[in-house]
Amino acid sequence: MHSELRENTHPILNDLQHQQFKQDGFLVLKDFLSKENCESLKEEALQLIDEFNPEKIKTMFSTKNQVHRNKKYFLDSGEDIRFFFEENALDAEGNLTVEKNLAINKFGHALHDLNAIFSCFSRQEKIAKLSNKLASDPVIIQSMYICKQPRIGGEVNCHQDATYLFAEKEPVIGLWFAIEDATLENGCLWAIPGGHKEKLKSRMIREEDTTRLEIYDDAPWDLNKMIPLEVPQGSVILLDGLAPHMSKENKSPRSRHAYTLHIMSRNNKFAENNWLRKQNYTGF
Ligand code: FE2
Repeated sequence: MHSELRENTHPILNDLQHQQFKQDGFLVLKDFLSKENCESLKEEALQLIDEFNPEKIKTMFSTKNQVHRNKKYFLDSGEDIRFFFEENALDAEGNLTVEKNLAINKFGHALHDLNAIFSCFSRQEKIAKLSNKLASDPVIIQSMYICKQPRIGGEVNCHQDATYLFAEKEPVIGLWFAIEDATLENGCLWAIPGGHKEKLKSRMIREEDTTRLEIYDDAPWDLNKMIPLEVPQGSVILLDGLAPHMSKENKSPRSRHAYTLHIMSRNNKFAENNWLRKQNYTGF
C-alpha cells in the first residue's frame, strides 16, 4: 500500500489516542517520523553547533555581571538561535572544560523561524496536521533542540511547561520529537499519568530583564507516580502544558537528542509577562 493511502485511511491522531491524551496529559506516538527525517535534522543541528563560536559569548559568561548577563542572553533568545551549555561545561573564565560539541545542552528558541531546515521540518505535513488536530489554527511559540549529552547531560527537575510558557485560555501543548532513541540509560522523559489535572504550581514571571517565580502550591510532586517514556527514534510525545514531567541525568555513553515545539491556538492568549517575548507567532 502506498504510504499516502495509508495516511489517509489512518488519521494522524485517532479519537482513542486523543482521548488518551486528554486523560493522561501526555501521549506517545511511535513511528511518527522516519529515520531519515530525524537524521537530517540531527545533521543540521550538529552543523549549527559546529558553526557556533563560543568565543563570541565568552565575555558574557566570565564577567562580574555573570548572572545578569546569562539571564539576558536567555531572555532574548525567543527571537534568535542561542546556545546553552551543560552545567560545569565552562570554567570561571568562561573557557570550555569539554569539547564544544559535547558542551551544548540545548539551543533555541526561534529555530522554526530562522533556520530553513528546522522550518521545513517543523512545518512538514504530518506535524502540521497533528498540530491542527490539537489546536485550532495553531501557532508555534518556541522551538528547541536538546542534546542531553553523553555522561554530562543534566537532570531536568519535575515541572509543568505552563510555568514557563503560560497561555491564558488553555495550556500550550508540547510536541517532543525523539531524534534519537530515548531510554532509561540516556535520560528519557518521565511523566505522571493524569498529573495535568492538578493546578499549575508556579509561574515564571518576567520583569524587565529579570524573572521571578510566583508559587501557588509548594507541595512537591509525588515522584513515585512517574512513569518512564522510553521511545525509539522517530516517536513524538505530546505533552499538555500542565503535565508534570522530568528527565534524569544521562550517564550513558550515548546522547539523547530531541527537538521540541510548543504550540497553541492562534486565538489563545500567550501571557505578556512570560519570559519569552516575540513579535510574531508563526503558524504552519
Ligand atoms: Fe518541559
